[in-house]
Amino acid sequence: MGSAKFRQTFNLEDFIRPSRQCWQNAHHWLFKRGVVLISNELDKDPKTVSKMFDDISPTYDVLNHILSMSVDVGWRNQALDELSPGQGEVILDIATGTGDMALLAHKRTGCEVVGVDISRKMIEVAVNKWSERYPGDGYSAIEGDALHLPFPDGTFGSAMVAFGIRNMVEMGSFLDEVRRVLKKDGRLAILEFSVPSYPVVKQIYLAYLTKMLPFIGGLQSGNRTAYDYLSHSIRKFPSPSSMEQLFEEHGFIVKRSIPQTMGISHLYVLGK
Ligand SMILES: C[S@@+](CC[C@H](N)C(=O)[O-])C[C@H]1O[C@@H](n2cnc3c(N)ncnc32)[C@H](O)[C@@H]1O
Repeated sequence: MGSAKFRQTFNLEDFIRPSRQCWQNAHHWLFKRGVVLISNELDKDPKTVSKMFDDISPTYDVLNHILSMSVDVGWRNQALDELSPGQGEVILDIATGTGDMALLAHKRTGCEVVGVDISRKMIEVAVNKWSERYPGDGYSAIEGDALHLPFPDGTFGSAMVAFGIRNMVEMGSFLDEVRRVLKKDGRLAILEFSVPSYPVVKQIYLAYLTKMLPFIGGLQSGNRTAYDYLSHSIRKFPSPSSMEQLFEEHGFIVKRSIPQTMGISHLYVLGK
C-alpha cells in the first residue's frame, strides 16, 4: 500500500509542454537582451523573427549589397523575367522586407505592388524608399504574417517571395495560404538561397556562410545573432528536389526550377 504513489502514471506531454513554453519565454527574454543562442533548432517564432528583422532594418540594405556583392540584382531580374507582370497589374510581394523586389518590379513593368511583411521596421524602410523614388501610389505595405494573408481567395495573378520562405515556421501552411490568394492559373516566383552541390564550390561557400558572413554581418549591424540565424537557416534549408516535391504536394505545378550562380541561389517558378 505504501508504494501506491509510485505506481501513479504520468503523461509525458504534461511535463514537456510547460518546459517547451518555459524555454520559449527564456529564449525571448535572452534574445531581447542580445544574448546569442546557437542551437540546432532554429527559432522561427514570428515574434522572434520580426524582432530580429526590426533590429537589422537600418543596416539591411547596405549589408545585403556587401554580402551578396550585388549578384542578387541579377537573380531578382531573372525572377521578374519569369513572372513578367503586366503594366498596371497588382502583384503580391510576400516578405517584402525593404522593398527591393517591389521597386524593381515597378521600375521594369509599371506594375503595382502589395507588400506583406512581419517586421514593421523593414516595411518602414520600404515605404520610404518607394516614396522617394515614386511619390504617389503604386505600393501598399501591410504588416502581417504570411501564414495568414489578409486577402480574399483568388485575389492576385502573380506573387513573389524573395529570400523569405526560409523564415516561415511551417512551409506547407505558407504554400497553402499563397495558393489560396492566387487566381486560377496564378503564378508564384520563389527566390531562395541554397547550398551548391559542386564539392569545391560547396566547401568555399560553407566556409563563407559559417565564418565570414556572421562575422561581417555581426560587425556591421551590431547583431551577430541575426547573421548566425541567416547562416543556419540557409544551411538547414531543403534541397531543390525536396522543395519541388513539397510544392507539388501543396498543389503547385513546378514550371521552372533554375539554379543561380553555381547553386548559391535557386529560382522556382510555380503555377497554381
Ligand atoms: C531576408 S529578408 C528578404 C526581404 C526582401 N524580400 C528582399 O528580397 O530583400 C526576409 C523578410 O521576411 C520577413 N518575414 C519573415 N517571416 C515572415 C512571416 N512569417 N510573414 C511575413 N514576413 C516574414 C522578414 O521580416 C524579412 O523582412
